Amino acid sequence: MIGVIDSGVGGLSVLREIRNQLPDQDLIYIGDTAWCPYGTKSFREICQRTFALTDFLSDRGASAIVVACNSATIVAIQALRAHYPLPFIGMEPGVKPAAALTRTGTIGVLATEASLSGQKFHHLVNQHAHDLRVITQPCPRFVELVEQGILTGPEVDDAIEEYTAAMIAAEADVLILGCSHYPFLLPALKNKLPNHIRFIDTGEAIARRVSSHPLTPSITPSTEILTTGDPEKMSHLVNLLTPELSTPCFFLSLP
Ligand code: DGL
Repeated sequence: MIGVIDSGVGGLSVLREIRNQLPDQDLIYIGDTAWCPYGTKSFREICQRTFALTDFLSDRGASAIVVACNSATIVAIQALRAHYPLPFIGMEPGVKPAAALTRTGTIGVLATEASLSGQKFHHLVNQHAHDLRVITQPCPRFVELVEQGILTGPEVDDAIEEYTAAMIAAEADVLILGCSHYPFLLPALKNKLPNHIRFIDTGEAIARRVSSHPLTPSITPSTEILTTGDPEKMSHLVNLLTPELSTPCFFLSLP
């Protein structure tokens, strides 16, 4: 079984790619909705939460854990790898592909406050984009909107305008969706921003990395979705965001 974790529904954008590429695996997803958002929390709290989720998945017999959350990856993946004898596949803002794609030499990074202040993120920029102009922007309202299932409309357009105006004015031509919640706003972003803007979402690449691990196929592959918040709300959001994964969701009580 592969465990997939996020602060809420964002990681479903990764789960659907994993399900596509690994149809023969048992998957357990946990949205830590009761503690969402992670992006504005302290590094200590984000670490504590990811350890609580991993403890549960490891007890359930996970053979690999996908940290489908940029914030948790940037803040906690090193500590997780040091603590558990399990393979961890994390996700981080796609600075490398963005650097390869830009023609103007300016890229925009949309991510959480936690991701943008993490050392791992600064390292990524130094490694792949030291000769580029990199404009960063935390987007907490994007997470709130997606968690409410609001993917289009005036509130979304206002948030897009607020978060992207400066980078578009600075001629950024590639925007990184550096948080697993943001791909659900891609149709709205494409609709609102100029046609030449390219977007980087690393969900599919993460799923490819997962499929490169040696994994035992399941005879009856299943997808289980758990939440530390309201399971009915989670089921509704799964139907809305990833109807292909549609399944009843269950409450998970964690310390
Ligand atoms: N989806 C998460 C990420 O990729 C975290 C969003 C949040 O909880 O603030 O960073």
